Amino acid sequence: MNFITVKDYASMSAFAARFVLEQIRSKPDSVLGLPTGSTPVGMYQLLVNAYKRGEADFSKIITFNLDEYYNLPKEHEQSYYSFMYRNLFSHINIQPENVHIPDGNAINLEKECTAYDQAIKSAGCIDLQVLGTGVNGHIGFNEPAEHLIKGTHITALTKQTLKSNSVNFGCTEQMPTNAITMGMGSIFSARKILMLASGKNKSQVMSLLYKGQITTYAPLTLLALHHDVTVVMDEAAAGFLCKSK
Ligand code: GLP
Repeated sequence: MNFITVKDYASMSAFAARFVLEQIRSKPDSVLGLPTGSTPVGMYQLLVNAYKRGEADFSKIITFNLDEYYNLPKEHEQSYYSFMYRNLFSHINIQPENVHIPDGNAINLEKECTAYDQAIKSAGCIDLQVLGTGVNGHIGFNEPAEHLIKGTHITALTKQTLKSNSVNFGCTEQMPTNAITMGMGSIFSARKILMLASGKNKSQVMSLLYKGQITTYAPLTLLALHHDVTVVMDEAAAGFLCKSK
């Protein structure tokens, strides 16, 4: 794994945007795996800026989002569908049919999960998967557990995730308690992974990844087993490095 520490959120976002742009330029029909959350917002902004300056073409790009809340209307401002259109898709020349976000409102959820993994395979698998992490080490919505699941599936959110993400919903009561997420196998089938981490609250879990302490109770630590992972952290997220000196 390649660990890179940069000064702050802005530098992390700039690094991530350059990384994605390089991917798009070297393979204009790249398949990208995309995250939500506050971490990638700066990167998305820079990608939009690059597109507006005529420096990026998304016309052949295919995307697969990691996850979506269960039973939350697509139009809800906190759905990941809304998030992605608000932060990226509405501002670039991506073809709507090339955008994939798991449907947490599907009538047959089991079928939706199988179809999602099949669609990833049919697209030729993910070239570059961008990831953030929860403070508990979840990736997508693969929550800490004794066993992790390979394919796209429905999952219950942990108390910790409900607490962290409820800030966006105003209160925990309004937050969906379940989600649909790509599984660890779907994520690991990506040829290349870019992991982003910003802020002091990510430092503890990032230290586990750095030390190679693999545990299903912090799913991001499994990234140590993937052959091509770049981790970019800001100084706050990399705070554990100073403590261990
Ligand atoms: C959500 C998403 C994750 C994301 C995490 C981190 O839970 N399901 O994919 O990595 O949020 O959020 P933030 O970037 O806001 O810390």
